[in-house]
Amino acid sequence: MIKATEYQRRRQDLMAAMAADSIAIITAAPERVRSRDTYFPYRQDSDFLYLTGFNEPEAVLVLIPGRTQGEFILFCRDRDPDKEIWDGYRAGPQGACEHYGADDAFPIDDIDDILPGLIEGRERVYYAVGKDPNFDRQLMEWVNAIRARARTGVIPPAEFVDLDHLLHEMRLFKSAAEIKVMAKSGRIAAAAHRRAMGICKPGMYEYQLQAEIEHEFAMAGASFPAYSSIVGGGANGCVLHYIENRDRLNDGDLVLIDAGCEYQGYASDITRTFPVNGKFSGEQKALYEIVLDAQHAAIELTQNGRHWNEPHEATVQVITRGLVDLGLLSGDVDGLIEQGAYRDFYMHRAGHWLGMDVHDVGDYKVEHQWRLLEPGMVMTVEPGIYVGRDNTRVDEKWRGIGIRIEDNVVVTRKGTEILTADAPKSVDEIEALMAD
Ligand code: GLY
Ligand code: MN
Ligand code: MN
Repeated sequence: MIKATEYQRRRQDLMAAMAADSIAIITAAPERVRSRDTYFPYRQDSDFLYLTGFNEPEAVLVLIPGRTQGEFILFCRDRDPDKEIWDGYRAGPQGACEHYGADDAFPIDDIDDILPGLIEGRERVYYAVGKDPNFDRQLMEWVNAIRARARTGVIPPAEFVDLDHLLHEMRLFKSAAEIKVMAKSGRIAAAAHRRAMGICKPGMYEYQLQAEIEHEFAMAGASFPAYSSIVGGGANGCVLHYIENRDRLNDGDLVLIDAGCEYQGYASDITRTFPVNGKFSGEQKALYEIVLDAQHAAIELTQNGRHWNEPHEATVQVITRGLVDLGLLSGDVDGLIEQGAYRDFYMHRAGHWLGMDVHDVGDYKVEHQWRLLEPGMVMTVEPGIYVGRDNTRVDEKWRGIGIRIEDNVVVTRKGTEILTADAPKSVDEIEALMAD
């Protein structure tokens, strides 16, 4: 659970990094129609949530460092007893101050009258241009209105600065409280994968495993899957973002499940691949062991002071060598790596930042160089091998096998912590669990 004091610290840190005489403006996510008059479950914008903990749409956060009448201003929906009967409780401006620590709060309907006055006289506006085209237009109208009055002595802002850079750099480094929440998200997702392994048998359908996984999420209080769950039997495991999940699971095939939950706003992202009937075939096991070795090699390098690409490079090494050893590639390993020959079988990178968003924010390069890993960074490590059904360049026995193994890893001062270790991944562990 992220406490009010942590939200406050985040706002203070952001304001400390902003220039003097500046203002930051951050909008809440809009509600989105799913069908006619029903909406997708609401998901707050991660930047907005990170700074406020406020989970309502139609809200705008304004931060003005050094403003004597209050630095943290929130525009939000007014209380409305009739609407609240239908759609649920609203904090209202008073609640925004009492429960979310706003220094000042106003009804969102009054923003046109109030925000231009707050912008006036600030040199610099921090804002994520292009994220919400409607708000972009509105903001420009307010700024133009200030400019039109320049002759009366009002000062329009001189500079617009992308807010993302400052804010996303902060989000990249997870606090102890965030890591605690992410560890819980990882444990819930790991339990879901164990449940799927324990229940799977030939003849079930992919969507039934999806239901088992998502049942476990929901029962543990994780509000949503962090992304559309992927359950691919056989060759469907070779489709990286396969989300149809409609097919039957066949005896003798593997099933690849890539599913994680969102718990208190933080994502987990786990992939496990296991035999539908509980026992790996010779070919499946041979390829699986390569992916697992690649993953171990990459986790080994996910350390303070290593650079972002080192774990990826390790997976490329292990996978290329493994494919040569099994005869799926032929030639010299270094030459094959140089040519990128592994990309026929391993076409994605070894991981990504993980946090409030599954593909979380944060730069991967600093001044054109891969950035160094530091304590508090959280990422996935997820190599894979995918032998397409139609890959006629390899012996038929390998075709249609798709394998990925994915864990969530925190860089710590002393090494690494795997947040998703409760999900079995060695051949023996998986076969033992499924035999039970
Ligand atoms: N589930 C999306 C990913 O692994 O990146
Ligand atoms: Mn994944
Ligand atoms: Mn991932």
